Amino acid sequence: MINEGNEPVNLRAALDSFDALWSPRIVTRVNDYDVRLAKVAGEHIWHVHENTDEFFLVLAGELRIALRERGEEREVVLTKGSVFVVPRGTEHKPSSAEGAQLLLFEPRGTLTVGDRHDEVPDHVDATTGHAL
Ligand code: NI
Repeated sequence: MINEGNEPVNLRAALDSFDALWSPRIVTRVNDYDVRLAKVAGEHIWHVHENTDEFFLVLAGELRIALRERGEEREVVLTKGSVFVVPRGTEHKPSSAEGAQLLLFEPRGTLTVGDRHDEVPDHVDATTGHAL
């Protein structure tokens, strides 16, 4: 169980407690949703979550998210302090040249690589999130 004692979690301390990239940690839960922290750098993979939106908040650095919508491809740029929601069913590929720290909000059990995805390279952790 994550944060079973229901104690406050300092996000800075939580981020300092791990180094793995593209490997989210679950900091707490809200109803059936996980609040996850991730450190990222380089490229993730194209993937899609068929049944859920995916919420991103950039805590540090800059995140880019490539999107395929209605046959068109575009990229959104999230600077520190920006939020963005990838709608369910939308193919997306996050990346960050310089590295970024993220807070994600998504239903418990959501896989980092979605329900359909490109081949998963070694630097990407296919996970539903790890405990802090
Ligand atoms: Ni995703």
